[in-house]
Amino acid sequence: MQSSTVQFLPEQASSFALQVDLLYLYLTAVSAFFTIGIVGFIIFFSIKYRRRSDADRPPMTVSNLLLEITWIVVPLALSFVMFIWGAAIFFKMASPPKESMDVYVTGKQWMWKIQHVNGHREINELHVPVGKPVRLTMTSEDVIHSFFIPAFRIKADVIPGSYSKLWFEATKPGKYHLFCAEYCGTKHSGMIGSIIVMEQRDYDAWLGNTKDSSLAEAGQKLFKTMGCVSCHSADSDIKGPNLEGIYGKQVRLQDGSVITAEERYLRESLLAPNAKLTEGFTANMPSYQGLMTEEQILQLISYMRTLTPVTTNTGLKTLPTTALGQTPKPEVTPVQTPKPVTTPTATENKLSGSPKKSEPAK
Ligand code: CUA
Repeated sequence: MQSSTVQFLPEQASSFALQVDLLYLYLTAVSAFFTIGIVGFIIFFSIKYRRRSDADRPPMTVSNLLLEITWIVVPLALSFVMFIWGAAIFFKMASPPKESMDVYVTGKQWMWKIQHVNGHREINELHVPVGKPVRLTMTSEDVIHSFFIPAFRIKADVIPGSYSKLWFEATKPGKYHLFCAEYCGTKHSGMIGSIIVMEQRDYDAWLGNTKDSSLAEAGQKLFKTMGCVSCHSADSDIKGPNLEGIYGKQVRLQDGSVITAEERYLRESLLAPNAKLTEGFTANMPSYQGLMTEEQILQLISYMRTLTPVTTNTGLKTLPTTALGQTPKPEVTPVQTPKPVTTPTATENKLSGSPKKSEPAK
């Protein structure tokens, strides 16, 4: 802002930026036109028709149909343009492309914790490749924050106990500001960071040297250590629902209603298992409220997503090929104990997993 030219808007660095700016320009132009017009006429009339002026005053007009129609139709048309144009952008922003790359964000007083699907973690920084849609799944560990990238023209509240989504496609490599845009305590103003947009090959190089286990692998570990596996594998179908292919599935609940098993539902089922019981199961699962961090919950959900048939899911392509259940086949029955299997894929599909194959480096 210290340069000689005044900067009215942040840099345009995402596929949304130009569209949002044009709409904003339209809103500003309409407002400016009417503000200037109205103020101009007020001044003009108050001079022309001021007291003791000799100006000719026409007789009072009670109604003028043409004038009334005009001041109804013109503003209506102008505001419909705002509505339709705004809604079109809104829907675009609300529907991430199927091939989006997944990134998980956890807000916390006062930092942004970011997990990539391959397990790479960052704090207050997010590295992304240019020209590739990125979908953020965000939650908070404490209070409401708001994830705001001005150069991308995107912003969304990050809410404890819920998941919010945001997506973008960066169009220019560079480093951009990340802000928290919701007052969240004393160091709210320090809850800032950077989005680093890189060329694909630079990004691959950056991502490549991670030694962390992937999100799904970490989730699979949790699935065992937290004991989920003892009730949620296919051969123990009596105790808990089989989670094979759970993500994105239509689940019929006790009360007869049907719900799509996405992040929000899976999270609730972990923390308040009896809130939405699957039809045919009894309320015997303990709550994991307070026993898992938000990041661990995301890891578990990430693992459940890998158990989903490829045809119905989106995030799978971004998973490393070693991820479990990358290409689950419906006929494959997950088993509790290792037994001879025909293909390596089948081994990878097992919910409980074969101990050697599935145990990531500790
Ligand atoms: Cu987080 Cu303000």
